[in-house]
Amino acid sequence: MERVSNYLHSRMLPEAIDQLFDSVNEYEELMMMYGCAIREVRTKLEVLNDELSVRYNRNPIEFIKTRIKKPVSIVKKLEGKGYPVSVESITQNLNDVAGVRVICSFIDDIYDIAKWLSRQDDIQILVVKDYIKHPKENGYRSLHMIVEIPVFFSNCKKYMKVEVQIRTIAMDFWASLEHQLRYKKDVPNSVQIGQELKECADVIAQTDEKMQGIREKIGVFTELT
Ligand code: GTP
Ligand code: MG
Repeated sequence: MERVSNYLHSRMLPEAIDQLFDSVNEYEELMMMYGCAIREVRTKLEVLNDELSVRYNRNPIEFIKTRIKKPVSIVKKLEGKGYPVSVESITQNLNDVAGVRVICSFIDDIYDIAKWLSRQDDIQILVVKDYIKHPKENGYRSLHMIVEIPVFFSNCKKYMKVEVQIRTIAMDFWASLEHQLRYKKDVPNSVQIGQELKECADVIAQTDEKMQGIREKIGVFTELT
């Protein structure tokens, strides 16, 4: 670190160096806060799952994945949308720096989780996009929510935004493969491939609905309010 700073001192004005270090510190602090917000949301979800597991022998959540958006993707997105690239601009203009993906067993679990999360009075739901009732043209399905959650630090309370994506195992399977294929450079981005992926998404959606139907027939789960 010292060598870096000596190098910078030899090439930059002192004020510019101060500014650079200030924004690096601010950036790190902001990312720390997003990390904490992710943990808060994850805990809320785990608490719900634990409660249902003990009370009703039901585990709506299969697993949870979390991520913080990488610096390169943050800069790309800000630039792409024509926003300034600064720490302040990140909090103002991006909703998906903190991401939580919840993988559920059945379609109904998705809506139950969303409902129980929205009921908690410290969490605010800012945006809901239902790509299950209204799938994307390529076949993508998931329930997306942008939530805002207070995080308590030593001397302040910060409201942080977190993008929560809730989907079934089957939807996650499709989305992961589609994502991989989309970023494979040597695969031609043809209409036919798009069509085939869409067909897979539709078959998967039918299977999800069938599984939901089987669960209802077996009737092992009592209706929860
Ligand atoms: P982004 O600018 O990409 O974040 O999109 P947006 O702000 O319009 O939000 P949207 O809710 O549509 O999508 C956000 C996220 O959902 C993406 O970053 C992906 O993680 C996921 N997603 C959306 N569409 C697709 C898709 O077609 N395929 C896959 N695999 N993931 C998708
Ligand atoms: Mg995104």
